[in-house]
Amino acid sequence: MFPKLFNWKKQEEKSHDLPVPANADWSFLGADMHSHFIPGIDDGAKTIDDSLHMISAMKNMGYRTIITTPHIMIDYYPNTRQTIQNGLVKVQQVIKENNIDITVRAAAEYYIDEYFMKLLETEPLLTIYNNEVLVEFSMMYEPPMLFEVIFKMQAAGYRPIIAHPERYLFFHRNFSKYQELKDRGCLLQLNMLSITGHYGKTIKAIADELLAKRLYDYCGSDMHHEKHASLLKAMAGSKDYYTFAHYPFLNSKLCC
Ligand SMILES: [Fe+2]
Repeated sequence: MFPKLFNWKKQEEKSHDLPVPANADWSFLGADMHSHFIPGIDDGAKTIDDSLHMISAMKNMGYRTIITTPHIMIDYYPNTRQTIQNGLVKVQQVIKENNIDITVRAAAEYYIDEYFMKLLETEPLLTIYNNEVLVEFSMMYEPPMLFEVIFKMQAAGYRPIIAHPERYLFFHRNFSKYQELKDRGCLLQLNMLSITGHYGKTIKAIADELLAKRLYDYCGSDMHHEKHASLLKAMAGSKDYYTFAHYPFLNSKLCC
């Protein structure tokens, strides 16, 4: 295992010396699986025009499939399968009217709390792919019994995808938790802008380490507004591009 990791790192360092191609885009990923494009239901797109602009930007960056993931967080964004589905219909209509050739589906980004535990027991969850469910939790405090929640999700037939693990401050002091999450069957999703330092130097350092140890499975834009689209576009013309181009993310399996 160690020689393989070493070789990958060597390749990565070498590739940073290469010139970034003028036509760099994200088409090799194919699909994005974390974003907030349904208007007016969370802290992402406010209007259908916002949705249209962000989805157009994704199309222009080479994406072919989007699985957008509104928050389900009972205190702030009390979304349901129905609010998400209704919003998705509007988004699909506007992209059709504007002849944007891209597939848009919807799942959710579930916030782990007591309400989530109730949902888990009472209704089917929205999935990214097969049984894979995107979850997040407090950035500041580890949820009580996190591993028990993960076990309950798995017992109910789901596989958790942990959204942006690099952003949870309490894991920074306890890096072994990342390996534990993997060992217990979770998938990890990198926020692409974490690599640029957009969320701060510490988060970038953790993301770099998780990448070097190949602990990530998916990457996602976590796009909330057009500024994120501009940053993602700029990233496709930087040395970070090669980090992604050489990493075996699973995103392309989501394309349809
Ligand atoms: Fe998100």
